[in-house]
Amino acid sequence: MDKLVIRGGNPLLGTIRVSGAKNAALPAMAAAILTEEPVILENIPQVRDIETTRKLLAEMGAEVELGYGRAQHRTTICCRDLASPEASYELVKTMRASTLVLGPLVARCGRARISLPGGCAIGARPIDLHIKGLQRLGAVITQEHGFVEARADRLRGAEVVFDTITVTGTEDLLMAAVLAEGETIMLNCAREPEVADLADLLNKMGAHIEGAGTSTIRVKGVSKLHGAKHRIIPDRIEAGTFIIAGALTGGDLNVAGCDPRHFMALLQKLGEVGVKTAYTADAVRVMGDVPLNSADMNTEEYPGFPTDMQAQYMVLATQAQGTSVITENIFENRFMHAQELVRMGANIKIEGSRAVVRGRSPLSAAAVLASDLRASASLVLAALVADGETIIDRVYHIDRGYEHIEEKLRGVGAQIRRIGEILPKRAAAPAVRA
Ligand code: EPZ
Repeated sequence: MDKLVIRGGNPLLGTIRVSGAKNAALPAMAAAILTEEPVILENIPQVRDIETTRKLLAEMGAEVELGYGRAQHRTTICCRDLASPEASYELVKTMRASTLVLGPLVARCGRARISLPGGCAIGARPIDLHIKGLQRLGAVITQEHGFVEARADRLRGAEVVFDTITVTGTEDLLMAAVLAEGETIMLNCAREPEVADLADLLNKMGAHIEGAGTSTIRVKGVSKLHGAKHRIIPDRIEAGTFIIAGALTGGDLNVAGCDPRHFMALLQKLGEVGVKTAYTADAVRVMGDVPLNSADMNTEEYPGFPTDMQAQYMVLATQAQGTSVITENIFENRFMHAQELVRMGANIKIEGSRAVVRGRSPLSAAAVLASDLRASASLVLAALVADGETIIDRVYHIDRGYEHIEEKLRGVGAQIRRIGEILPKRAAAPAVRA
């Protein structure tokens, strides 16, 4: 299992480029199920979850080309023949977002069989709202042996209200509604930029969607969708992670290829902490080396402060003077990074959904364990400012959502390297007689 070795203390200087958004690319790849024609997606991040989704679609019978050549991060997906509209437990257990194929499969094939995602490090994360939404559109759902089966000759438009705001629940239902008969009105929808990006793609494919990015989305169903070409939006969480890295290390970092409109809550909170930033339409410059002061933070649905930036913000809070109270309102178990940060010298007390962080605490290097994608990103941030050399194990969590993180950080001055598993050398092939 790969490890990352990071020696702290270097200010990050220069320009670091943001990749395409994993959480926009995943639903966009699932949307290709809705048409027999090729769908071309550009700015795809080279991360593990994209490869998992490629496997998932290929298992169903889709043709998926995935290229990361210098000039392009592009995938072409053609779902002409979907022999088996299923998602296996093997794949779903490695990536819960596999449930995003449920809606499009029922809409396109009239049936779907998806393994129920098991538990997850950050919480129970059920998919009951995905299921209730599909039932409202007329799908017949059965659950047995750890699988959910959905069937519908043709989905019918309806009014659907989400009990809880759910990002992939909104996306799943949107992809079902576009081929349903009649109009669907979805209320209490997620407003994340990734939802709006998916709707942009679906409308390019011939759908009729209005209101994506707001809490009310109207869909006029059509009988067929066609292929399209679409560029995935930049990753706002990767951008935010690098911005905090610049603030923590007291550097002067230009985070390029991002869209600051997608993370205004983060920029506002960083301003409260005393971090100096300046932004243009596609870049944020963060000028560190300023005294940081504490500021409370609550995670909220978009456009509030994103839960996917909570762990990263916690590291910043450990370096701020004073006490910051961080409240996690979205997931019930998303403080696993706290104990690893405490082992590095942070002063953090967990009280239910609140983490009380007392700073400033100098951090010292340690051997630490990554537990989920964003928790592992916070350990990288802590290691960048810790005294000494930190070793982070189980970095496959990071590789799920951060493209070439060590190359990108090394490119702006971080002392970071990856050590792979020391595999036994293969015996040399016997010499072949001439
Ligand atoms: C999406 O997950 C993101 N993943 C997550 O990013 C992100 O943390 C999350 O939204 C919240 O912003 C992708 O987009 C692929 P939810 P999702 O449904 O859709 C409850 C990362 O690090 N809920 O918005 O699974 C749920 O338990 C990942 O990139 C139900 O109760 O999250 C949670 O408490 C981690 N029933 C809340 O809603 C349901 O049917 C919000 O979850 C669905 C959700």
